Amino acid sequence: MMALKFIIIIISIQCLVSYVSGIKSKVLLISMDGFRWDYIQKASTPNFDEFAAMGTKADYINNTFVTKTFPCHYSIATGLYEESHGIVANQMFDPSYPIPNNTFNMKTKDTEWWDGGEPIWVTARKNGLKSAVYFWPGSETKIRGYRPNIWFPYDESVSFEHRINTVVSWLSDDQYDIDLALLYFHEPDATGHKFGPDSNEVKNKVVDMDNVLGYLMRKMTSAKLWQTTNVIVTSDHGMTEIDYATRHIDLSNYIDIDQSMTYKTYGPFSNILTVDGLEDEVFNNLSKAHEHMKIYRKADIPDHWHYKNNRRILPLLAVADEGWTIVKGPEDYNLTVKGAHGYDNRLQSMKPIFYARGPNIRSNTTAFPFNSVDIYPLICELLGITPAPNNGTLDNTNTFIIDNSTGSASYTWSCSTLLTICFIIVFLHF
Ligand SMILES: *[C@@H]1O[C@H](CO)[C@@H](O)[C@H](O)[C@H]1NC(C)=O
Ligand SMILES: *[C@@H]1O[C@H](CO)[C@@H](O)[C@H](O)[C@H]1NC(C)=O
Ligand SMILES: *[C@@H]1O[C@H](CO)[C@@H](O)[C@H](O)[C@H]1NC(C)=O
Ligand SMILES: *[C@@H]1O[C@H](CO)[C@@H](O)[C@H](O)[C@H]1NC(C)=O
Ligand SMILES: *[C@@H]1O[C@H](CO)[C@@H](O)[C@H](O)[C@H]1NC(C)=O
Ligand SMILES: *[C@@H]1O[C@H](CO)[C@@H](O)[C@H](O)[C@H]1NC(C)=O
Repeated sequence: MMALKFIIIIISIQCLVSYVSGIKSKVLLISMDGFRWDYIQKASTPNFDEFAAMGTKADYINNTFVTKTFPCHYSIATGLYEESHGIVANQMFDPSYPIPNNTFNMKTKDTEWWDGGEPIWVTARKNGLKSAVYFWPGSETKIRGYRPNIWFPYDESVSFEHRINTVVSWLSDDQYDIDLALLYFHEPDATGHKFGPDSNEVKNKVVDMDNVLGYLMRKMTSAKLWQTTNVIVTSDHGMTEIDYATRHIDLSNYIDIDQSMTYKTYGPFSNILTVDGLEDEVFNNLSKAHEHMKIYRKADIPDHWHYKNNRRILPLLAVADEGWTIVKGPEDYNLTVKGAHGYDNRLQSMKPIFYARGPNIRSNTTAFPFNSVDIYPLICELLGITPAPNNGTLDNTNTFIIDNSTGSASYTWSCSTLLTICFIIVFLHF
C-alpha cells in the first residue's frame, strides 16, 4: 500500500511539473537585414509563401527608433528599447568614457558598450541552455559574464549556404546540442543601399533570399528539425529611396561644424554634441535651417521613440524627413548610394518582415502587427525560460503560440489515465 501511494505521488508530481513548465522547444532566430515588409510583394516568393502557410506571418512589425542595423538588432535580441539597451546608433559617443574609448563604431567589442541589455543568447545560457550565434551585433562580446557557446568574428564572405549548414548541424547534431541559434544575412540590405528599394536588383535579391529560405527549409526537413525547432524569420528595418544630389541637408550651410561640434553623425539623423557654451546657438541655427529637418533638444525628443533616457543620446538630435539626408558638405552631393534607413520608425517604409513556423506556432495564420521588442519574450516562452526585464509583451504574440511541446496532449492524457488506473487499484483494494 505504501509503495502504491508513493507511485501515485510521483506520477502526480510529474504531471504537475509537465503542466507548469510549458513549452521547451529549440529556437532558430534569423535576420535578413533590411528586408522591408512589402518586398515580398515585388516578386514570386514560393518559399516564404510555404513558410507562412505552415506557420504565422505578420504583414509587418514595428521596429525601434533609430531604424539602424545595430540598435534594431539589439532591440530584437534584448526586448529593450534603444534608450534601455544603450546601442543607440551604429556610431556613438559616450561622454563618460575616457579618450580614445569614448566613440563606438560597428567594430567595437568592449563589454561596457553592450552590457546595458541582456541578449537572448545570454539569457539562454543563464538558464542552463546552450546558445550559438552565426553573426549578430553583440555576439562577439562577453556580456554580463557570458558569450554564446559558439560564435564567430563577423565575416561577410562566408556563403549563406555554409551558414545554414552550420546552424542546422548545431540544432540536429548531439555533438553540439544547441537549444537556441541565431543566424544573420546581410541581404537584401546591401543591395537596397546600393540600388534603392525600387530597383530591379532588389527584386532579384528578394528572389535570392526566397531561395535561401527554401534551402534552409529543405535542410531542416532532412535533419527532422521541424518537430523540435521553432524558426523565426525577421529583419531589423526597411529601406527608402534617397538621392544625395537633390535631397541633401548640408549642415555646413548653417553651422561652422569644426568650430562648434565635438561629435556629430550624418545620414537620416544626426546625434550632436556641441562645444561648451554653443548648444543654444547650434540649436537656433539648425531649428530654422531646413524644412525637411527637425532638431530636438534631448528633453524634447518625442516619448513614442523611447529614445531619450541614455547618456549616449546627445544634447541635440536632428532628424530628416523620409528620403532626405543630412550631409557634412558639398563633397557628399555626388554620393551614389540610392537607399537608406534610420528614419522615424512610424514610417511604413522603415518596417520589417515577420514570419514564424514550428511545433509551437499556429499554421496558416496572419498575426496583427506587433513590436520587435516582443520577440525576446516570445523566444523565452518557446525555450521555456525566464526573461530578463524587457519592454516587450506576450499579449501580442500568444495568439499564435501553441503550448503542445511537452508531449502535450498525449502526455497529459497518459498522466490522467495513469492516475485514474492508480485510483481504481486503490479503490479495489478497500
Ligand atoms: C581603451 O580600450 C582598450 C581596449 O579595451 C584598453 O586596452 C585601454 O586601456 C582603454 N583605454 C583607456 C584610456 O581606458
Ligand atoms: C549661426 O549662424 C550665424 C548666421 O549665419 C553664423 O554667423 C554663426 O557662425 C552660426 N553659428 C555657428 C555655431 O556656426
Ligand atoms: C565628389 O566630388 C568631390 C568634390 O566636391 C570629389 O572630391 C570627390 O572625389 C567626388 N566623389 C565622387 C564619388 O565622384
Ligand atoms: C505599430 O506602429 C503603428 C504606427 O506606425 C501604430 O499605429 C501601432 O499601434 C503600433 N502597434 C503596436 C502593437 O504598438
Ligand atoms: C489557409 O487559410 C485560408 C483562409 O484564411 C484558406 O483559404 C486556406 O485554405 C488555408 N490553407 C491551408 C493549407 O489550410
Ligand atoms: C523598458 O524596460 C526597462 C527594463 O525593465 C525599464 O527600465 C524601462 O523603464 C522600460 N521602458 C519603458 C518605456 O517602459
